Amino acid sequence: MSEPFSTIRWDGGIDGHLRLLDQTRLPVETVYLDCRTVEEVWQAIKRLAVRGAPAIGVAAAYGVCVGVKEDRSVDEVCDYLATSRPTAVNLFWALERMRGVASRAVHGPERGRGRPGSLLELLLAEARAIHEEDRAQCAAMGRFGADLLDYLPEGAGILTHCNAGALATGGDGTALAVIFELARRGKRPRVFADETRPLLQGARLTMWELMQRGIDATLICDSMAAQVMREGRVQAVITGADRIAANGDTANKIGTYSVATLARAHGIPFYVAAPVTTFDLTIASGAEIPIEQRSAEEITCGFGKQTAPAGARVYNPAFDVTPAELIGAIITDRGVVQRVNRSTVQSLLK
Ligand code: MRU
Repeated sequence: MSEPFSTIRWDGGIDGHLRLLDQTRLPVETVYLDCRTVEEVWQAIKRLAVRGAPAIGVAAAYGVCVGVKEDRSVDEVCDYLATSRPTAVNLFWALERMRGVASRAVHGPERGRGRPGSLLELLLAEARAIHEEDRAQCAAMGRFGADLLDYLPEGAGILTHCNAGALATGGDGTALAVIFELARRGKRPRVFADETRPLLQGARLTMWELMQRGIDATLICDSMAAQVMREGRVQAVITGADRIAANGDTANKIGTYSVATLARAHGIPFYVAAPVTTFDLTIASGAEIPIEQRSAEEITCGFGKQTAPAGARVYNPAFDVTPAELIGAIITDRGVVQRVNRSTVQSLLK
């Protein structure tokens, strides 16, 4: 039941390069993108060839190795990659880890190895460690989440938004890891995937993953969620996250806040699944989370088809913030935060 594709891979040793599954081509084509320059890595992140908070962090860590192979400094490469997307905190977290390796190589116990290529070896080892840790975190979230949702009856309806699966992480996913684990435990979840306007991560990516794994999956337009809930087809909602503030307010793909509000209105529990690397304790609340604004063409000319008058004014925030009070629990790789607030978040992370 593990993923039959490779979202992110470093091909080869220190002479190797970064290979990404180009998610802009899914579900029609399974095409890999070879990144040999840091510019190619930046572009891949920017145009969502690789996306999803943990996957962006892992790709950026390998991207630092790509940049150092081009004889650029770690700081310069990190500064550059940090400009690719602003909301997912995993990007900045991974880049800080890579900067730490470089700084220890100069000032710390690893300094003075004197072999050419040794910094690159250290950086590649760190990127691989970040990748491997993410894989393990996904597995842990799957277990904690399936324990939490064990109360659901067999065949329960679970709604998810965007894509928080193996395509969005270095492992099996966050929200989808929980669903995969429930399926492994014989719970036969029936998943409703919001299509997720405007870039259709739910339709293109979540449906692709769920169908590949033989999970019962039904695609709905985002605007159908209220009706599907009223018809009693949804017993729980679970999504991923891009950044969680110290008080538990959670930024995730645009439309998540609507889904959480609808879930509350229909008495359906709303859960978030995210690794500890998605928490940002430096900010007090969701109001401080930077929200990425994307181009008008994604809405007026999505996938090459013009669907609005030329010159139409557009507002296109890529994420929204769900207030902590709408979140029933946050499932992390260290356990579950119940009654989400500043003190429960802090006690899990301390
Ligand atoms: O714009 P995207 O596709 O990168 O947005 C992704 C999401 O919002 C995911 O839900 C989030 O990153 C969690 S992925 C495990």
